[in-house]
Amino acid sequence: MEIFHISAECYPVAKVGGLADVVGALPKYQNKAGHLARVVVPCYDTKFKRDNEFECVHWGHIKLGNFNFPFNILKEVNNILGFELYLVEINELFDRKEVYGYQDDIERFIAFQIATLDWIINRENIPDVINCHDHQTGLIPFMMLYCHKYQKLINTPSIITIHNGLYQGRFGFDKLYYLPEFDLAHVKVLEWDNCINSLAVAVKCAWAVTTVSPNYLNEINYSANGLESLFNMVRYKSKGILNGIDIEVWDPATDGMLEKNYSIINYEIGKQENKEKLCNLFNLDPTKPLFSFIGRLLEEKGGDLLPQAAAIALSENYQQINILILGSGNTAIEKQLNSLLQDYKGNYNTFIGYNEELAHLIYAGSDFLLMPSRVEPCGLNQMYSLRYGTIPIVRRTGGLKDTVIDFGDDGNGICHDQASVGDICYSIQRAFALYDDKKQLNTIRLRGMNIDHSWERVCQKYIEMYKLIINKNES
Ligand code: GLC
Repeated sequence: MEIFHISAECYPVAKVGGLADVVGALPKYQNKAGHLARVVVPCYDTKFKRDNEFECVHWGHIKLGNFNFPFNILKEVNNILGFELYLVEINELFDRKEVYGYQDDIERFIAFQIATLDWIINRENIPDVINCHDHQTGLIPFMMLYCHKYQKLINTPSIITIHNGLYQGRFGFDKLYYLPEFDLAHVKVLEWDNCINSLAVAVKCAWAVTTVSPNYLNEINYSANGLESLFNMVRYKSKGILNGIDIEVWDPATDGMLEKNYSIINYEIGKQENKEKLCNLFNLDPTKPLFSFIGRLLEEKGGDLLPQAAAIALSENYQQINILILGSGNTAIEKQLNSLLQDYKGNYNTFIGYNEELAHLIYAGSDFLLMPSRVEPCGLNQMYSLRYGTIPIVRRTGGLKDTVIDFGDDGNGICHDQASVGDICYSIQRAFALYDDKKQLNTIRLRGMNIDHSWERVCQKYIEMYKLIINKNES
């Protein structure tokens, strides 16, 4: 089967969050399973772009309202990622360091979607499926159905995979003229709450809608930033498929970013050596339990709860626990987290920023990983931490609920229900007590390390879903 994944992110080409990890791994495993999966992302000014070799396989011009942009399709020549990678080069819009956060993001991603489809219809073969990811690619299913110039793709199934329904790519009808010509009889399809809503458009037009965990699919029926009723309406074509993790990249036995590699046989010593290294780097006490947080410091991730929860936990367990935070995001949260540094020296530290290598060491060297998310469509960090023998402490939401079960129910982690400082502190207390019971601690660690969240298994579910919609079309 020939599959195109179209996305704003793909690890290691360009990463902001978990979307990149999924788009960097799922296609690789689809290829290994005998399919031909390709990935298309915008060409940002990233290290990956500078360090690798590309050839131009197509070029053209796109029209965005009154503007004209030349574009090139660059193919990575050595296939180093395990799939064919294509970058859409539109220098005026994407030759920048960041993936998102510019005033013209709407224009940038519409241009990206148009250039991608222009190129796809120019290829010899039409793909069997087009899998779009998140709102930045949400207009594609619409354009494939209704834009005159993409008529060729009218029978090609499109899928929208929702990694986060909070972000929807909304813009006003004043920008309608950016879209390639289509039959205005269908203009209503673009509308949600008086705006053009890219995610809603995708949900309406795609042949199938997938979310990145089964529980998140249930949640968006009552909590989806205004799209609840739409998600209810399309339930018949929706499916929640729990993400996998790339167990080649995330393997404590071979991970080159660790101080010491380990497996289920020697994980106690292995984790301890990584912990010592980490504690050394951050001036923490390796004899005490280490609680870490890795991720974007946003309300969505419960980042706003962390400063107070950390302060309370550190005072209540004075010099008995360590807390380490790696992340960036909201500057107010960053400041509050840094303001605790003085008071809890030796037991608390932060690294404000993004650092993939450090993240690996933290998964290996920590005892517990905090994920107090308000919204977590899947969450990959808890799966990485399980594999590294680090016990996740999560709020029961989205994919966290699908993957972490409280140890009180013979599970693999520690769970609470409310996105509150009190619930986080209560979980930390339970973890603190658990830390002293080495036998139980190790039983729980091993349960986590033995779980199989590999893409090998999961990628079959995507293939089954593609087949289902292709067969429906043919029958
Ligand atoms: C987004 C979601 C996260 C999910 C990831 C990959 O970043 O917030 O929960 O794991 O996408 O699907």
